[in-house]
Amino acid sequence: MKVTLSHIKADIGSLPGHTTVHSKVIEEVTKFVSDHSKGVIWDSQIGYVGDDVQITMVHDKGTNASEVHKLAWDAFKAGTEVAKELGLYGAGQDLLKDSFSGNIKGMGPGIAEMEITPRRSEPFIVYMMDKTEPGAFNFPIYKMFADPFNTPGLVIDQNMHNGFRFEVWDIEEAKAIMLETPNEMYDLLSLIGTKGRYVIKRVYTREDHEKLPDENVAVITTDKLSFIAGEYVGKDDPAAIVRIQSGLPASGEAMEAFSHPYLVSGWMRGSFNGPLMPVSMKDSKMIRFDGPPRVVASGFVYKDHKLTGPVDMFDDPAYDNARNLASSIADYLRRMGPFEPHRLPEEDMEYTTLPKVMEKLKGRFEHVDAVEKRKSKNSSQRDVE
Ligand code: 13P
Ligand code: 13P
Ligand code: MG
Ligand code: MG
Repeated sequence: MKVTLSHIKADIGSLPGHTTVHSKVIEEVTKFVSDHSKGVIWDSQIGYVGDDVQITMVHDKGTNASEVHKLAWDAFKAGTEVAKELGLYGAGQDLLKDSFSGNIKGMGPGIAEMEITPRRSEPFIVYMMDKTEPGAFNFPIYKMFADPFNTPGLVIDQNMHNGFRFEVWDIEEAKAIMLETPNEMYDLLSLIGTKGRYVIKRVYTREDHEKLPDENVAVITTDKLSFIAGEYVGKDDPAAIVRIQSGLPASGEAMEAFSHPYLVSGWMRGSFNGPLMPVSMKDSKMIRFDGPPRVVASGFVYKDHKLTGPVDMFDDPAYDNARNLASSIADYLRRMGPFEPHRLPEEDMEYTTLPKVMEKLKGRFEHVDAVEKRKSKNSSQRDVE
């Protein structure tokens, strides 16, 4: 029987700025989901990273099921009411529409869902990032499923040896393409290196996978909040579900992809590059310069309608070096202030005063030739004098 894993997340208000969720909001969302889950979902878990509330659900309604999306939407609405009562900052930030209309897509929250054929043991990890964008998952998902230096299982496990299939979205043109590794590895890399445009949406096993042929094994939220709203409403902080073990990356191979604090875009005002710091949920308060961008991971197994877990996967001293390196990178980058490449290029910034600055200075720009000519005239006049 098919089972659906749905992960839906939203920023519905935080404390004191875009720093962290409030426990009362988490309590309200948790209570709402548990009070209204009967006949809709089997089990759920509420988590958070920074200022984003995260709902992981398991059910048999398939992907894009209206009643499942409505449950999450209504839970976020209930949590928003609590956030408003407390006066939390940006209460209801990601709920962009007034009423629910059948599907949560395009309404603000991020969604990652997959329909799976559960194995005897069905382990998976939910990764949640704050202060960055969906393309921030390109690097670690590639490492997990295509890089044998990260995932030796690709070389030594017979079931992984044939590789995986990647569904990549061009989020500017709204187009998708399937690419296979290892044979199309360089084509894949040439796209996904442009992480602001080409984003890994899903990973599948190949048809000849012995244990789990043609199965969805990873999915990432890719909802571009800024495009939906037509104005700045925060970076679309992403989340992903990654299935692990028996013919898929082992838990430790999936986790190893975050041992290097690679650079991502987001951080302060969604407009700066910074290192992605792997942290436990309790350490996901976005404080220094509203960051640095962070990733949290929750490990689960699914069995008979129930989720067991979560394990707070980055609550591990073995990630201390990654965290220390991320802090050093933050020190280094921060000294650049508003300069690129710490600050994002103009077209990638979430908001900017440049058009207003340009408007003000418009009449003072001159062609450089005219400026040069005037200068040389002035100096030749001086020569004559
Ligand atoms: P399985 O092939 O049993 O999933 O495990 C391999 C493993 O966990 C090594 O770390
Ligand atoms: P969020 O997208 O997490 O709400 O952060 C917005 C921001 O401006 C951080 O500086
Ligand atoms: Mg926020
Ligand atoms: Mg956020």
